[in-house]
Amino acid sequence: MLNIIICGAPGCGKGTQSDLMVKKYMLKHLSTGDLLRSEIAERSELGLEAESYISKGNLVPDKMIFDILSKAIAEQTRNTNGIILDGFPRNVAQAEALEALMASLNKEITVLIDLKVDNQELINRLLIRGETSGRCDDNLETIKKRLEVYENKTAPVSAFYKTKNKYAAVNGMGTIDEIFGRISSVIDSKR
Ligand code: AP5
Ligand code: MG
Repeated sequence: MLNIIICGAPGCGKGTQSDLMVKKYMLKHLSTGDLLRSEIAERSELGLEAESYISKGNLVPDKMIFDILSKAIAEQTRNTNGIILDGFPRNVAQAEALEALMASLNKEITVLIDLKVDNQELINRLLIRGETSGRCDDNLETIKKRLEVYENKTAPVSAFYKTKNKYAAVNGMGTIDEIFGRISSVIDSKR
């Protein structure tokens, strides 16, 4: 099984590259951001609470993420070549919880792929997307906050997987196809 974490700063291309990985390697895609945005679109209680964090660029509470994700992981790791986790784990506590969950399912994370993109390019991509996305967090003020939260809370997750020898940094600058070629090389080396 290929159980891949795709990680990196807001706008680095996690969603874009996940779509390509799903097709090439027949994996299931689990994006905590997408799950939360569908709750927001439904105006559910969870969605409304999540929106108050997301619109400010903050992480939503860990418990909310575990509630929506643990069931999904248990279901999606059955009868599949593997899963892609996009946007999770987002801090070291989430990484520890994920490791415990995977162990309880007798599965393991294959590799964390860390997409590296310059900050100015990230801001440009997100501002362009913000013209049409309707996302409450695609505006300059919130983008800056998201980048700060990424550095403080999410970047340490890389160190966690480095110590397990399950870390691969990938240059996330260039065309979508060029980047996918680099990601495919990493995945193929793990199969
Ligand atoms: P989430 O949805 O995970 O957003 P994010 O990490 O900020 O990342 P994005 O989805 O904005 O970008 P991406 O890396 O997927 O890039 P994309 O492919 O879209 O999280 C949103 C919020 O939800 C968080 O801030 C938090 O509040 C909450 N949340 C989510 N998970 C959580 C968790 N586990 N714990 C707590 N809170 C959580 O690409 C971006 C744009 O660039 C697109 O327009 C794309 O077309 C374009 N693009 C892609 N590749 C290229 C390229 N090579 N060249 C030019 N343009 C490109
Ligand atoms: Mg995304």
